[in-house]
Formats: sequence, C-alpha cells, structure tokens
Amino acid sequence: SVPMITLNDGTKIPQLGLGVWKMPDDEAPGIVMSALNNGYRHIDTAAIYGNELGVGKGIAQSDVAREDIFVTSKLWNDQQGYDETLRAFDESVGKLGFDTLDLYLIHWPMPAKDKFVETWKAFIRLRDEGRVRAIGVSNFLPENLERLVDETGVTPALNQVELHPRFQQLSQRAAHAKLGIATECWSPLGQGELLTEPALIEIASRYGKSAAQVILRWEIQLGLITIPKSSNHDRMRENISVFDFELTMEEMAQIAALDSKDGRIGPDPATADF
Ligand code: A2P
Repeated sequence: SVPMITLNDGTKIPQLGLGVWKMPDDEAPGIVMSALNNGYRHIDTAAIYGNELGVGKGIAQSDVAREDIFVTSKLWNDQQGYDETLRAFDESVGKLGFDTLDLYLIHWPMPAKDKFVETWKAFIRLRDEGRVRAIGVSNFLPENLERLVDETGVTPALNQVELHPRFQQLSQRAAHAKLGIATECWSPLGQGELLTEPALIEIASRYGKSAAQVILRWEIQLGLITIPKSSNHDRMRENISVFDFELTMEEMAQIAALDSKDGRIGPDPATADF
C-alpha cells in the first residue's frame, strides 16, 4: 500500500495520489470511484479544475469511507483576499459535499497582486476552526514562502510545484528542506512528454515496468509527494503499482542527469498573472 508522509503539523498524507487536472466533471465520478476502489486514498483537485462536484460524487459512490481519503483542493487566484477566501472555501467544500477538507492550497502566489499574506491569514483561521486539517501553497517561490513565515509565523505544510525529471527544482527543494515544508510534484510525468526518454525506457525494461512507473518511483524514493493524473483505468492502476521495486543509486543518478535548465512546462510563478 501507499506510504504516508508526515507533514510539519503532524498530518499524514498518502505519498501518491490521483491528480484530476483536465478531467471533465462528468468523467470524474467514474474515474475517482475506480481509483479509490483500486487503492488510491488521495485525490488532488482545485476550484479552477471545474470538477469538484464530480470528484465529490466519485468519493460518495466508492466503497471507501470519507475519513479514509485525503482530499486536497485549491483556492483560485481571483478569490485571494481574506473574506473572499472564506467564501471560496465554503464553495469548494459545498461542491465536494463535505464539511471539512484535508488540505487547502493557495494555487498561485500572484506576487504582483500582493494578496497572498491576507489570504494565508484566512487559511490559518480555517485550520484553527478545524475546517481543514492542513494548509499549504502551490507554486510559491522561496521568497514568497519566507514572507508567509515572517508575517504570520505559520509555515505552510507543503508546496506543490512543477517537478519531473526534466525540471527537478533543486534550489526550490533545498528551500523547502530548510523551512520544513514538504514538496509535492505537479505534472510529475511531465504531462506525458517524458515517457519516450530512452534512459527511462531502458531502466524500466530491467524491472518489467513502464517509463511512467520509473519516474513515479524516482519521486517516491526522493521523498516527494506525487499526484499523477490519468483518466484511463489501466494507466491509473499502473501509476499506483510502484511499491514493488526499487531503483539503485546509479539509476537515481541517471535520472538526476535528465534535469534541464529549460525543462519547465508550465508558467513561471514569478511572472504568472492569470
Ligand atoms: P491519460 O489521462 O489519458 O492517462 P501529468 O500527471 O504529469 O500531468 O501527466 C498526465 C498525462 O500523462 C495525461 O495526458 C495522461 O493521460 C498521461 N499519463 C498518465 N499516466 C500515464 C501512464 N502510466 N502512461 C502513459 N501516459 C500516462
């Protein structure tokens, strides 16, 4: 089964979960239900994904109890601000059909808007009121993280950032380690683009695994939290079958060598404004 990672507030999160970005709301119930019935216990959604209703339905229809599932959602950029955040949280849990959430994240820092500290104060209130077990952020640069800590004294439990073998985020990970923040990977498979990389295919063939499984195993062995997205039942099952083999130090180093300066796929958080 999937190992748990203990966050800096004592909350435990399953190290591998199902990402649902780009999963249509009407497909989400079937896929989420199937994921839960196949061993997934962690689902990562966001208000902007437009599928919180479908995710909630899938959870309700599955054989797994709500309290055994770790559910994350994220606050969208146009709802930053103290009061706006409290309203947005109610909308998200309302759509999911829950009273509480396991993890709530600020989706992007939007440094030019300069509202993320106020937003974080509302997150602290939601946590203190017991409406969410853990609070964190996504796409925050080290300087954004330091401001949150300096101005509120509350360190995010984790930061979800773009991370895959082509974009390994070494300095970001070092900043997280210093602050005691867990690292969660978005687009952990590089949105599928990395799966033809010869080095990965070669390593995979030694274990009778796929390139996708090798990437996910590399993330697991680095202690990262990872949330591969798949809307396909076989690939979804494949992605959770990464706990029965182990990469050698040499193979870990071979994958480390795939890091690239221009390996980023998504927006740069320093300038992203949407
Ligand atoms: P699909 O949903 O059809 O399976 P990421 O999580 O890095 O954003 O990657 C998601 C992309 O990778 C999706 O296009 C998904 O397609 C594809 N994908 C997910 N798992 C696998 C897998 N095991 N093998 C091949 N492609 C995969």
